[in-house]
Amino acid sequence: MKAVTISLFVFFLVIAATVISFCDGNSNVLCIESEGQALLNFKQDLIDQSNRLSSWVEGEDCCEWVGVFCNNLTGHVKELHLGLLTKGPDADEPVAEWGAYLRSKLGGKINPSLIELKHISFLDLSNNDFGSLTIPEFIGSMKSLTYLNLSLANFQGQIPHSIGNLSKLLYLDLGHNPLFEAKALQWVSGLSSLQYLDLSEVDLRKATDWLQSTQKLPSLVELHLSRCSLNNDPSPISVNYTSLAVLDLSRNTLSSVPTWIFSLVSLVSIDLSSNGVEGVIPNGFQNMSSLKFLDLSRNAFSSSTLSWLSNLNRLQFLGLSSAGLQGNFSSAIGNLSSLTHLDVSHNQLEIIEPKCLESLCTIREMDLSYNGIDNEVSEIIESLSRCSLDRLESLNIASNKLSGHLPDQLGQFKNLAYLSLSRNSISGPIPFSIGKLSSLKVLDVSYNRMNATLPQSLGQLGNLEDLDVSYNVLEGNISEMHFSNLTRLKFFWASNNVLTFKPNPSWIPPFHCKSIGLGNWHLGPQFPQWLQFQRTCLF
Ligand SMILES: *[C@@H]1O[C@H](CO)[C@@H](O)[C@H](O)[C@H]1NC(C)=O
Ligand SMILES: *[C@@H]1O[C@H](CO)[C@@H](O)[C@H](O)[C@H]1NC(C)=O
Ligand SMILES: *[C@@H]1O[C@H](CO)[C@@H](O)[C@H](O)[C@H]1NC(C)=O
Ligand SMILES: *[C@@H]1O[C@H](CO)[C@@H](O)[C@H](O)[C@H]1NC(C)=O
Ligand SMILES: *[C@@H]1O[C@H](CO)[C@@H](O)[C@H](O)[C@H]1NC(C)=O
Ligand SMILES: *[C@@H]1O[C@H](CO)[C@@H](O)[C@H](O)[C@H]1NC(C)=O
Ligand SMILES: *[C@@H]1O[C@H](CO)[C@@H](O)[C@H](O)[C@H]1NC(C)=O
Ligand SMILES: *[C@@H]1O[C@H](CO)[C@@H](O)[C@H](O)[C@H]1NC(C)=O
Ligand SMILES: *[C@@H]1O[C@H](CO)[C@@H](O)[C@H](O)[C@H]1NC(C)=O
Ligand SMILES: *[C@@H]1O[C@H](CO)[C@@H](O)[C@H](O)[C@H]1NC(C)=O
Repeated sequence: MKAVTISLFVFFLVIAATVISFCDGNSNVLCIESEGQALLNFKQDLIDQSNRLSSWVEGEDCCEWVGVFCNNLTGHVKELHLGLLTKGPDADEPVAEWGAYLRSKLGGKINPSLIELKHISFLDLSNNDFGSLTIPEFIGSMKSLTYLNLSLANFQGQIPHSIGNLSKLLYLDLGHNPLFEAKALQWVSGLSSLQYLDLSEVDLRKATDWLQSTQKLPSLVELHLSRCSLNNDPSPISVNYTSLAVLDLSRNTLSSVPTWIFSLVSLVSIDLSSNGVEGVIPNGFQNMSSLKFLDLSRNAFSSSTLSWLSNLNRLQFLGLSSAGLQGNFSSAIGNLSSLTHLDVSHNQLEIIEPKCLESLCTIREMDLSYNGIDNEVSEIIESLSRCSLDRLESLNIASNKLSGHLPDQLGQFKNLAYLSLSRNSISGPIPFSIGKLSSLKVLDVSYNRMNATLPQSLGQLGNLEDLDVSYNVLEGNISEMHFSNLTRLKFFWASNNVLTFKPNPSWIPPFHCKSIGLGNWHLGPQFPQWLQFQRTCLF
């Protein structure tokens, strides 16, 4: 008896080994014929102007078709990747290329044959253009789906409640279909495994149950409801989201910070930007000790102190642009020891305590523009240089009341790519050390009182694309050396100074700019030859 068992066991081992080696050796498990046919029926109803699906040919193995992924043991179609990478029109790209991109979007109808793909877990039809089609009811029958992405695909009408039947879904992205509407969200409570829900730009004005319904999802980690026309919070004081880490309620019309947010102490990211919220920034944020990202920008907060920030030592991104901040930039900021992005632009801050900048050792981008900050510019640069020399990539202090001279330390921020100090009252020279900022792409010191000669070291900035020194009292002779390595320069504004430039008539500039402004320069007497090489330039 024992011998039989053992030999049977060995027999099964051999079979198992054979199956495994067969599958490893020959990964071309052929497509299931009925599923290939279902895909062809699906293709038949699509409009595919650019012939993206040209590999979908009858009689050939559907597992090899573009966008189709099969289970390599069973041959069942398991994933359909027909989304398109998103991109915007790029000014540098030929118009034809953008046209080709738009044509590569699929359109047409969605054939119910998809239901026959009984084992499909991943369906991505995002970023296509279904010309205001409604999502077909039958999508709720595709019960094996764990990932469904129909975002940016120009669907319209009501979201079918049958989607609530997809109880295995982990990811549901229906965002950015501006013609979508949901009158209620009760159906989402069926999505008991859901981790990620994006309904951004879906009109939820009538779905007053959105909070009740989404908070019942026990596994929800990310909730994106940006631009959903959400009015004020229909809220219970505390909610039940057990796993929520990312909450995006930006671009709605909330008029106060929903108080239930403060009971979610494990939130990592909160975006309430662009809502028109009024009143003082509540200090309820102060106990959210897991918070790494907080965006309260573009609201109508009134004067507020920042003391509530002092506990948030994990915070990496803080956006308080247009948040009605007044007075001093308090030392609470100095306790944000993980901060990488800080935006307090468009407020009425007057003073920055230099000390509070000294401990921002992780800061990469800092925007203090459009305030009334009247420190000496050297105080700010020197304080930042204590700890963030190697990290700072972007610094914007434009439109303030900074005075004094730029310090030599400026040249030590070796990763600085963007520097704007325009519209202040800074005087003196641009320091010679500027030539060491080899990562610099944008330098804007326009509308100040800079009153020296331009340093020749500017000519070393091989990555510089955008240089604006206009509206100062810069003086002296400019030479070819000032441009020696500026091969990437695209925008150059230097008008309204007292500069003279008379290069060698045979000089050929190393750059081909797009726009150049040299008003009030002494260039003459003849029209400068070198400008002929700037054919694409706007003056
Ligand atoms: C089969 O699929 C699994 C999981 O997707 C993968 O890790 C493995 O490499 C595949 N094997 C072959 C032979 O393609
Ligand atoms: C859905 O597709 C869009 C566009 O391709 C993409 O940006 C987005 O990240 C996808 N959503 C998820 C949850 O993967
Ligand atoms: C699927 O959802 C619809 C609409 O919510 C419902 O009427 C139907 O009973 C559900 N079907 C199954 C099998 O759960
Ligand atoms: C919160 O969840 C618990 C356990 O899942 C449940 O008993 C309770 O009724 C829920 N409360 C609300 C307000 O939904
Ligand atoms: C923060 O937590 C502390 C201690 O748990 C508590 O005393 C305080 O009231 C809380 N602050 C806010 C604004 O909720
Ligand atoms: C602002 O800071 C200055 C100098 O640190 C201090 O004297 C002044 O009292 C502060 N003002 C406010 C409103 O906190
Ligand atoms: C910064 O944090 C330290 C220690 O956590 C604390 O003692 C100090 O009061 C905080 N500073 C401010 C301005 O809240
Ligand atoms: C530049 O301006 C400052 C402040 O107005 C003045 O002290 C300085 O002498 C000026 N320098 C030159 C070279 O004109
Ligand atoms: C010119 O710029 C390049 C980077 O574009 C840099 O590698 C090179 O060292 C620069 N040369 C001088 C003389 O500054
Ligand atoms: C500028 O160049 C002219 C001659 O081209 C020279 O006379 C003048 O001294 C120079 N000015 C300065 C400040 O170097």
